[in-house]
Amino acid sequence: MRNDGTVTLTVPAKAEFVDIIRLTLYGIAAKMKFSFEEIEDMKVAVSEACNNAVLHAYDHSQPGQIEVSFTIMNEDRLQIAVSDSGVSFEQVTDRTTSTLHGKSIDEIQSGGLGLYLMQALMDEVEIRSNQGTSVILTKRRLAQETV
Ligand SMILES: Nc1ncnc2c1ncn2[C@@H]1O[C@H](COP(=O)(O)OP(=O)(O)OP(=O)(O)O)[C@@H](O)[C@H]1O
Ligand SMILES: [Mg+2]
Repeated sequence: MRNDGTVTLTVPAKAEFVDIIRLTLYGIAAKMKFSFEEIEDMKVAVSEACNNAVLHAYDHSQPGQIEVSFTIMNEDRLQIAVSDSGVSFEQVTDRTTSTLHGKSIDEIQSGGLGLYLMQALMDEVEIRSNQGTSVILTKRRLAQETV
């Protein structure tokens, strides 16, 4: 797949910085001509991934950082990787790579709605856990209507 450009943001893993990530997402997705609805769906999914990094990755006395990279692929596909270098994702500690596809909601959930929402709102959700966690969210723009 062709990479048409990547924008990367690094912010403190604190709730008040998630807005900056949402604004950047909006800017990139609007430029790519995603619909308003598609952008809203991505905003919810990306916010959930960021909130997880804020809440679950780091010890609250020593917050770390969240790195979010937005990669435009083949002009119509946006891949958003939300990474932290905190404690590893507990469901995938025995593997370096895991995909949520093909797994039941029960298997991927430990009580929360975040992963469920990400999976419902995006085309692909992949979790990589090595030193920290990366959640890789992908959405493809529907074909533009020709006016
Ligand atoms: N970045 C992360 N680092 C470490 N663990 C994580 C991370 N993201 C998710 N998890 C683990 O996966 C679980 C499920 O995440 P999910 O977002 O589905 O639910 P939640 O955050 O517990 O609740 P909710 O999102 O509904 O507030 C979390 O409870 C946490 O244990
Ligand atoms: Mg969550």
